[in-house]
Amino acid sequence: MRKLIFGLFIAILPALGLAAGAAVPLDIMEPDHTNKASLQRGAALFTNYCMGCHSMEYARYKRVSEDLEIPASLYEENLIFTGAKIGELMKVSMSKEQSAGWFGAPPPDLTLESRLRGESWIYSYLRGFYKDDTRPLGVNNVVFANVGMPHVLVDMQGLCAVEPRIGKGASVDPLSGNINNADACPEYAIEGSMSAAEFDRSMYDLTNFLSYMGDPVKVERERLGVFALIFVAIFFIFAYLLNREYWKDVH
Ligand code: HEC
Repeated sequence: MRKLIFGLFIAILPALGLAAGAAVPLDIMEPDHTNKASLQRGAALFTNYCMGCHSMEYARYKRVSEDLEIPASLYEENLIFTGAKIGELMKVSMSKEQSAGWFGAPPPDLTLESRLRGESWIYSYLRGFYKDDTRPLGVNNVVFANVGMPHVLVDMQGLCAVEPRIGKGASVDPLSGNINNADACPEYAIEGSMSAAEFDRSMYDLTNFLSYMGDPVKVERERLGVFALIFVAIFFIFAYLLNREYWKDVH
């Protein structure tokens, strides 16, 4: 019995490790890899705003273009800026040594970022930048304190003057009926081109794309999983009948 309890304890240890990961409150993001339109918008955002610094070097353009149903010629024309061929890995030309000097830390490869941090973390991080004049680039992040990355989406989102309320959730004021925290940022130092809701939707798409990159076979795996379970269920009947046949003469 003691062994069993010990075994169970060992089995749940990894779950405890996971729970310890999230120290800051996050806004929840549920990815949807079947939403191709969202993934396409995310891919376009990522190529335009992130691939100047971040690579996705464990994936090939071709795979992404096929999975997202973007024709190869369109993809090559509009979503590859480095002159790479569609069959190549999604690398960037910035060298790690140089960028470490510029930003304090090199921009990490983001292929597996969603596996490392989780979707909710990425979604919150992308919406978590705010003005902080004590930092070298004038911005800080509520999810990643003292981050070296500049706020590259400032044109879209604007720059929040105070710490945005990430992970606090929107709520309806019972007296006035007003919605509190509908916009995570109560006050902007620079106005952006998008409304808060539009920006949130774009960041949903971008996070959805990063989530897909971290687990490109998710949809296929889940589809096959259903068949595997149906097979196991049917096979169980035969296994049961066979077992009964074998044991029927043993008294
Ligand atoms: C100008 C270069 C640059 C651009 C453009 C850029 N980043 Fe970054 N990013 C960085 C740097 C540098 C870091 C590392 C920061 C650190 O460790 O302090 C970083 C860190 C990150 C991290 C956290 C990585 C970790 O430690 O887990 C994520 C996520 C991220 N970037 C996503 C994005 C996305 C999405 C975009 C596009 C909207 C983007 N970045 C555009 C430079 C950039």
